[in-house]
Amino acid sequence: MKIEGQAALVTGGASGLGEATARELARLGAKVAVLDRNAELADKVAAEIGGIACVCDITDTESVNAALDKAAAAHGPARILMNVAGIGSAKRIVGKDGNPAPLEDFVRVVNINLIGGYNMARLFAARCAKLDAQGSGEKGVMLFTASVAAFDGQVGQQAYSASKGGLVGMTLPMARDLAQHAIRVCTVAPGLFATPLLMELPEAVQQSLAASIPFPPRLGKPSEFAELACHVVTNGHLNGEVIRLDGALRMAPR
Ligand SMILES: NC(=O)c1ccc[n+]([C@@H]2O[C@H](COP(=O)([O-])OP(=O)(O)OC[C@H]3O[C@@H](n4cnc5c(N)ncnc54)[C@H](O)[C@@H]3O)[C@@H](O)[C@H]2O)c1
Repeated sequence: MKIEGQAALVTGGASGLGEATARELARLGAKVAVLDRNAELADKVAAEIGGIACVCDITDTESVNAALDKAAAAHGPARILMNVAGIGSAKRIVGKDGNPAPLEDFVRVVNINLIGGYNMARLFAARCAKLDAQGSGEKGVMLFTASVAAFDGQVGQQAYSASKGGLVGMTLPMARDLAQHAIRVCTVAPGLFATPLLMELPEAVQQSLAASIPFPPRLGKPSEFAELACHVVTNGHLNGEVIRLDGALRMAPR
């Protein structure tokens, strides 16, 4: 599907990988809606790329529908959904104090990363399915953002890995479901990227993380994620696939 002129939605578009994706889509001529719960940053990014900010919480159906309505009123119906919003967490199942990990933490991470992603996907897909197919035969395309932690999660990453593994697991069945509606679904599983989350770590920690990547031995650039996300849109034969983007990184236990 061509990107130019298309209405696109980017969750988590206010920061990091989502922001880079929003910028790349806009550079390639898409009309971009930045969907994020951080209003201030969403406004800033949207203003800089000539898009619109739609403040929403991806776990809240009412707020997502309001964001989709706002985006459609400004740009027309969206055919591209980049699901990038997500949160991290680190919690051992049995803490150093011997107590079980709080269940709320697991629920919160799975709720945002997995259930929020599914919520966005179902609400977007139902709208997209009603559109006419374009010249390429496609109605739309969507992307999820998993993580290499879906495959080799580290100590303390049960909630994060479970949430990202859930995205990996639903990629193929969702692509199969949506084949009849001419909507493609892919997932990117990034390794370690230089986003605000990692850039806030001490320099020495950043360097040791970078050194764990076989090649290139540096953190991924958000623009590299954005390039792949946009390639998924333009390459009409990519569907139902999970693509690792990690410089051959395989995470150690800790
Ligand atoms: N940075 C990395 O190295 C890395 C590696 C693997 C996977 N990922 C994944 O990539 C995605 C983006 O990560 P990032 O590093 O750019 O993080 P980030 O914190 O810079 O950006 C995440 C954005 O998502 C938004 N968000 C969070 N919860 C939301 C919700 N419920 N509703 C709406 N918006 C919400 C935040 O406000 C923020 O703007 C995440 O899903 C993360 O798990 C990142």
